[in-house]
Amino acid sequence: MVNLQTSQANEPIKLPPPQLDSGLPLMKALQLRQSTRNFDSKQLNLQDLSNLLLAAFGINRKESGKRTAPSAMNWQEIDIYVALKNGTFLYDAKSHILKPINDKDIRKLTGKQYFVEEAPVNLIYVADWNRMKYANEENKIIWSAVDAGSIMQNVYLYCASQALATVARGLFDKEALSKALHLNPEQKVILCQTVGYPKKI
Ligand SMILES: Cc1cc2nc3c(=O)[nH]c(=O)nc-3n(C[C@H](O)[C@H](O)[C@H](O)COP(=O)(O)O)c2cc1C
Repeated sequence: MVNLQTSQANEPIKLPPPQLDSGLPLMKALQLRQSTRNFDSKQLNLQDLSNLLLAAFGINRKESGKRTAPSAMNWQEIDIYVALKNGTFLYDAKSHILKPINDKDIRKLTGKQYFVEEAPVNLIYVADWNRMKYANEENKIIWSAVDAGSIMQNVYLYCASQALATVARGLFDKEALSKALHLNPEQKVILCQTVGYPKKI
């Protein structure tokens, strides 16, 4: 299996099959869901990353290709970019792989708070408005935000169920981030979410 720490950012990372029987029951996870801003710098292992992305917006119905979070008109317009220490990747749910975007550590660009460059994973939710055919601009704004929010809550619950730390973040330099991800004008960065192991204080 590819090791996250030694893998090259120019090659796709094949994620191991997600562990579908792991974690706490939903009602327990709901009790534990919270935002945490103290992260250990330890990198997440590939299995955790695989489980996390499946929970976030993976495919849960192979026949239809539908996902663990709902999306307006099933447009599935939210892409998840994954900013790691050794590079930036795009989650491809169909193949359950991480596609390389660049070999740069852009974690710092994903927010203005000190922990974003220390925490191992920053998820970046990007809406591709090109996929939202026939929606007017107002609905594109609202629906893509709602869809990203559903993914955000999946991540919160997954983290609660696995004793991982997470916080959603709406404050970041949109322009710098869009440039680093080579986004076109119809691709909108909606939200970032930091994930990692909680720092033991
Ligand atoms: C859309 C959105 C944007 C947020 N932006 C930030 C942020 O930029 N920085 C931050 O530390 N927390 C951010 N948060 C986390 C909230 O501050 C947090 O959810 C709130 O204080 C309630 O705490 P809880 O999540 O532990 O219940 C954001 C949450 C949401 C839903």
